Amino acid sequence: MNSIPDALVGRGVDAIDTPAAVIDLDAMERNIARMAAFAQRHGMRWRPHAKLHKSAEIALLLERAGACGHCVQKPSEAEALAAGGVRDLFISNQVIAPHKLLRVARLAAQLAASGGRLALAVDSHEGITRLARAMAQAGSDAGMDVLVEIDVGQGRCGVPPGPEAAALARSIAAQPRLAFAGLHAYHGRAQHLRGVDERRAAIAAAAQAAAGTRDLIEATGLAVPLITGAGTGTLVHEATSGVYGELQAGSFLFMDADYAANEQDGAQPAFEHALFIKTQVISVRPSHAVCDAGHKSHAIDSGLPLVQGQALRYANGGDEHGILYAEGPAAPLPGLGDTLWLIPGHCDPTVNLHDRLIAVRGGFTHGVVERIIRVDARGALT
Ligand SMILES: Cc1ncc(COP(=O)(O)O)c(C=O)c1O
Repeated sequence: MNSIPDALVGRGVDAIDTPAAVIDLDAMERNIARMAAFAQRHGMRWRPHAKLHKSAEIALLLERAGACGHCVQKPSEAEALAAGGVRDLFISNQVIAPHKLLRVARLAAQLAASGGRLALAVDSHEGITRLARAMAQAGSDAGMDVLVEIDVGQGRCGVPPGPEAAALARSIAAQPRLAFAGLHAYHGRAQHLRGVDERRAAIAAAAQAAAGTRDLIEATGLAVPLITGAGTGTLVHEATSGVYGELQAGSFLFMDADYAANEQDGAQPAFEHALFIKTQVISVRPSHAVCDAGHKSHAIDSGLPLVQGQALRYANGGDEHGILYAEGPAAPLPGLGDTLWLIPGHCDPTVNLHDRLIAVRGGFTHGVVERIIRVDARGALT
C-alpha cells in the first residue's frame, strides 16, 4: 500500500522516499499570486480546472486567492471536491448516461442547499432532455445552470458556433429547472501551438466565433451571461479578447514540461514549475544512469520529463525506470544514490497516479515537508 506517514511532516526533503510527487509550495503560491493579479488586472473571473490537482485542499486555496469556483471534467470529480467543501463547480464536459445525470442533479441540489452551485455543459438536444428528466427525477426545485459547448477549433465535443448553438440555448431556456448560463468555448488544440502568433490567431478566431454566436442568441432576446474558456497556453488572448469573461486555465499551478516548450509570451505571467517527481539513481553504467521513476510515476502522453537543473536527458525505461544520458560529452552522469527532480511532461495525468502530493516549503535543498495534500479525486473517472 502506498502510505506516506504523517511523521514526514516537519522533516527535510531527504526523508521523502522515492519515487514521490512533490510540490514546491513557494513556487505554487507564486503561480497563484501571479494568476490572481493577472485576472484582476484584466477584470476576468477565473475558474481553474481542478482536473489538474484533483484536490479539495488546493481548490479552496485557489478560491481564497480569488478563484470564483472550479471546473471539473467528470461528475465523480465534482462529487469528490464537493465532499471536501468546494461549493461552486462547473462540469465542463458532456454527461449523457441517465444514472450519471441523476447524480449530477442530486449534487446540484446538495450544493444549492449549502449556498453553492453546479453547472454543466451540453452539446445536444438529447443531452438537455435527459438532464431535464434527471432534474425532475431528483425532485429538487434548485435548478441548474447549463452552458452550450461550442467547438471553437478543438474538434472534440461542442456544436459548431452559430445557429445550432442558438437552438440549444433556446431549448435550455425552455426547460423549467434549467437556466441558460452562457457558452463554453474552450480551445484545447490552441494551448500547445508553439508560437505566440499561432496561439493569438487561434484564439482570435475562437473569440470571433463565440461573439457571433452570442450575438445570434441575444438577437432572439435571450441573454448570454458568460463566455468561458482558456487554458494556460492561451489565457492572455482570451483575457484581452473582450469576449471571454472567465478563464478556465488549470496547469498554470504546476506548469508541466510541455507548456515550458511553448514560445513564452511576454504578456502572460511567467509561471514556474511547481510539481516534481523526486527520484533516486539506482544504477550507473558507463554510458548511462538509471533512476527509479518510470511511467507509473509520471504521465508520458505529452513527452518525457525534464531533469531539473541537470544536463541529463531522460529516456523511457519502462514502468519503473528512467534512463539518463549525459547531454554532451563533457556532462557528468549522476552518482549512485543521487536524488534527481523530474519535471513531468503532463501534470494532470501525473497527479492521477498519486494518492498524495508531498508539499515542501523552502526549496529542495534545505526545505521541509509542510503538509501532505490528498488527491481526493484520484481515479474519479466516471
Ligand atoms: C475544458 C477545459 N478547460 C480548461 C482546461 C485547462 O487547460 P490547462 O490545464 O492547459 O490550463 C482544460 C484542459 O484540458 C479543459 O479540457
